Amino acid sequence: MKEILGLAIETSCDETAVAIFSSKKGLLANWVSSQASLHAKYGGVVPELSAREHTKNINVLLKLAFEEAKVKPENLDFIAATTTPGLILSLVVGVSVAKALAHLYKKPLIPVHHLEGHIYSVFIERYFQEKKPSYPFLALIISGGHTELYIVEDFEKYKFLGGTLDDAVGEAFDKVARLLGFPYPGGPHIDNLAQKGKPSVKFPTPKVKGKYDFSFSGLKTAVLNFIRKNPHYPKTDIACSFQKKVAEILTQTTLRALKDFSLKELVVVGGVASNSEIRRQFQIIAEKEGINLYIPSPKYATDNAGMIAYAGFLRFLKGKYARLDLNPSPNIPLWKFNEYLKNFHNYSASKR
Ligand code: KG4
Ligand code: ZN
Repeated sequence: MKEILGLAIETSCDETAVAIFSSKKGLLANWVSSQASLHAKYGGVVPELSAREHTKNINVLLKLAFEEAKVKPENLDFIAATTTPGLILSLVVGVSVAKALAHLYKKPLIPVHHLEGHIYSVFIERYFQEKKPSYPFLALIISGGHTELYIVEDFEKYKFLGGTLDDAVGEAFDKVARLLGFPYPGGPHIDNLAQKGKPSVKFPTPKVKGKYDFSFSGLKTAVLNFIRKNPHYPKTDIACSFQKKVAEILTQTTLRALKDFSLKELVVVGGVASNSEIRRQFQIIAEKEGINLYIPSPKYATDNAGMIAYAGFLRFLKGKYARLDLNPSPNIPLWKFNEYLKNFHNYSASKR
């Protein structure tokens, strides 16, 4: 097969990311510029600031990526961009740049759903490895904006099982970190603190109606109430107890789904999949239940454009290109993405 070269742009939240992918050589460049320190003083991502930063950084990242990959834009086969979900002003920056490049160099424009990117992060990291998840597999997506369980039957065939009814798990980590006096993004701070603590506080398990749903706002409130009542309690122990509880909730619900659907393949992706206790607990259940577990390393678990490039490559192979009126959206669910794309599909690249 001829080498296929793709560019991918990711600007859905507070990371500006650009990657260049080769079907023969894997990722040739994978650049990320994090704005975390900029947003830290506000306690979360400020949408307008985020979009301005993307605008400032995107060309620098494109230049770095093209230089590192030793690829010229005219040699690309496709240009992919995260189209949904995310902060709309931020998505607009990445999609507009992708559209401009696609128009200028007459390349197919490939839309990618951010969660689809997370799911396929496992595949890009293992591009040259034989052991990859085989369909159908269960995917747990745990990030700052999402906590969702899917059965992935094939590329573009995602069956939604359940998700959070309130806060996303990453949001809960960020909020609890804030209660403990740590800046955004709080997940890594909790993880570090927890290493030095004991799980001495018994936080309650949230009740949810759906078999595969999650809820984290009650747990966050339980932590808040505990801190109010016990202002001098060691932060390390609070972090450790909270983290352990979250890992327990995630593993129990995921295990239920694996058993109910007789699945033996599991991917756990998204920024929160970097958490050491969550990784540990998933490894334990995988060993015990004979599950093939795939968790990306932190560099592929958190937002990056390498994962978008790979999902874009799969869509490119299907010949599903978007017209140049492609419009990003803040909140198209993964299972509705194909339907949404019908508004922008142009199945033939030669028409453009
Ligand atoms: O996937 P991601 O980079 O961006 C979104 O799509 O949201 O996830 C970011 C989230 C943040 O909430 C951050 O606090 C959390 O991932 N996170 C962690 C850890 N590293 C990042 N949460 C817990 N433990 C970690 N080690
Ligand atoms: Zn993400």
